[in-house]
Amino acid sequence: ALRGSFARKAQKPSQSSHHGLQLQASYKVAILGAAGGIGQPLALLIKMSPLVSALNLYDIANVKGVAADLSHCNTPSQVLDFTGASELGNCLKGVNVVVIPAGVPRKPGMTRDDLFNINANIVKTLVEAVADNCPDAFIHVISNPVNSTVPIAAEVLKQKGVYDPKKLFGVTTLDVVRANTFVAEKKNLKLINVDVPVIGGHAGITILPLLSKTKPSVSFSDEEVEQLTIRIQNAGTEVVEAKAGAGSATLSMAYAAARFVESSLRALDGDGDVYECSFVQSDLTDLPFFASRVKLGRKGIEAMIPSDLQGLSEYEEKALEALKPELKASIEKGIAFAQKQP
Ligand code: NAD
Ligand code: LMR
Repeated sequence: ALRGSFARKAQKPSQSSHHGLQLQASYKVAILGAAGGIGQPLALLIKMSPLVSALNLYDIANVKGVAADLSHCNTPSQVLDFTGASELGNCLKGVNVVVIPAGVPRKPGMTRDDLFNINANIVKTLVEAVADNCPDAFIHVISNPVNSTVPIAAEVLKQKGVYDPKKLFGVTTLDVVRANTFVAEKKNLKLINVDVPVIGGHAGITILPLLSKTKPSVSFSDEEVEQLTIRIQNAGTEVVEAKAGAGSATLSMAYAAARFVESSLRALDGDGDVYECSFVQSDLTDLPFFASRVKLGRKGIEAMIPSDLQGLSEYEEKALEALKPELKASIEKGIAFAQKQP
């Protein structure tokens, strides 16, 4: 992710940087909630992508300054700011990827579900605007509780008659990023090589790292599996407690979200080898939504990978059965919310 822009060297005098940059692919990305804790560093990381030509930043306040600041970076994308509901439609016109980190974060002692009452309405309103203005865009939902906000988004899109399940994603990349980091630390592996699929959902025990499917293949003792699984499931809370009232993960989340955006843009650009875990409409289990590895292509999800759920360890099989009731309840809560709205 982001290799291109980080690796770019100063241009030789003989090369026109302007001309060079025009040879890059060009996609339009919007961030809704762009002035927030996640939104700002995410905007910076996306501003560094050579695949992006336009970066539209939307928030209910404080976004003008963020955009002015960011616009001085000499990378290709043009940064525009949009404030408040009256400017939301223009923010979304012609956009290829919409990222939604709008909403309130947790404080110590709260669950992600405690955010439902505020964030459900925010996501509903924003996705209605997405449906009206860029119904073909990939939609990346970050706002918690993801296990409910993604089903809400799906219902809203259905009500608007534009639902494409292949283009609606709950962002669970941070769970994979954490799993990769913690496993590499514990097993002394070269971080760049480690890849742990994480399935289920994005809250507590619904987050299920498949350590048995870690690449490169490694063996774990039962104790290590238990410790790593619990650490990955509680990593969000670990940050919430460390921040002690000042919010939840923002920097690691921005990093993870930028990776998911970059993967989506590469897929849109025709790269045939893009896989990410995400919480999506799914037929891999009896639940209507489920996080798993998906293959991304120009039209969104190109394939699910059913074999990822086969050959699980006994520990993983049990954890998978154990997470289903909670995940099912969160999904149903989201659907019920969206269906009872006028
Ligand atoms: P934050 O409070 O720092 O920022 C949220 C931003 O959303 C603010 O700038 C706010 O003005 C804006 N906002 C509020 N209502 C809005 C609306 N109607 N339209 C547009 N913007 C609006 O919070 P944060 O730390 O950036 O976290 C944002 C959300 O992301 C939270 O719900 C948090 O739980 C979630 N989160 C998810 C993951 C994940 O892995 N999916 C990880 C971290 C955080
Ligand atoms: C995370 O996993 O860090 C986010 O979902 C934020 C949170 O509330 O834990």
